Amino acid sequence: MTSYLAPAPQPSVRVRAPGKVNLSLRVGPVQEDGFHPLVTIFQAVALYEEVTATQVPVGAGISIAVDGPQADRVPLDETNLAWRAAEALARHTGVEPDVALHVTKGVPVAGGMAGGSADAAATLVACDALWETGLPRAELAVVAAGLGSDVPFALLGHTAVGTGRGDLLTPAMTRGEFHWVFAVSDDGLSTPEVYRRFDELTAGQARDVELADEAPLMHALRAGDPHALGAALHNDLEPAALSLRPELERTLTLAREGGALGAVVSGSGPTVAALARSRQHALAIAATWTAEGAADTVWCTTAPAHGARLLT
Ligand code: C5P
Repeated sequence: MTSYLAPAPQPSVRVRAPGKVNLSLRVGPVQEDGFHPLVTIFQAVALYEEVTATQVPVGAGISIAVDGPQADRVPLDETNLAWRAAEALARHTGVEPDVALHVTKGVPVAGGMAGGSADAAATLVACDALWETGLPRAELAVVAAGLGSDVPFALLGHTAVGTGRGDLLTPAMTRGEFHWVFAVSDDGLSTPEVYRRFDELTAGQARDVELADEAPLMHALRAGDPHALGAALHNDLEPAALSLRPELERTLTLAREGGALGAVVSGSGPTVAALARSRQHALAIAATWTAEGAADTVWCTTAPAHGARLLT
């Protein structure tokens, strides 16, 4: 008698990494390398990207599949930041870049919430575990910074001060939990385009960024005071995002009329973030945005959230 054995499942690793909101984003004048010096306070939100990395035969190379809301808007080739993260880690550690990546999107695409950066951070942690390359977090952060300015923060999570391009991070102390609601547009904004508009609006003469400007916001975080935090929200890219998407002004106004403690464009937009008093209040703001047609989708969540973390 012949017996058949099912093939053993390939080893795989699952990692989750968060999206972010910039509580404050201060942008200096463009430098010769085309980047802008930043002082920013990142906060990770409990909307996660999930990446599963599965072993494949030697020489099979990298492949990628994506599901979740807005998955159809994500490239499935080497331009995908998760793909580039696997490649970068393989190059850095001298292993062969062989892996099947599966990404489940939980962060808005091209929304100024660093969903692609979270994919890259999750992929670095997943491939590091799958390939048993054992890089310390500090070294993973160096590889992360080479992939994009927001990738190191997606590794770290929680709340942090970012300087340089936003990639030099110092953890910030916070107390308590904050309730956020996000107005998400199906039509994303390109980060480089928003920075270009910022350069036009400031005629290349933006004020130098100062960490001291963040004192009220840092105090609000340490005190766990959502009212003070709402008053301190700030985004230097907001005028540029509003000039490219004037309708976002109404989204901000609706949140403020709904009693939001603060409302701001998230990162380079077009997502609008509103800070609420409670989960009920967040749901009420979300309902107003939906009723007024101010967003294609609304997402309620809490913060701060953890950084890239192994699930299995
Ligand atoms: O680093 P990342 O790939 O996320 O940056 C995307 C684009 O955003 C850059 O090519 C640059 O145009 C702009 N950028 C910038 N200054 C920063 C971060 C990003 O001008 N500090």
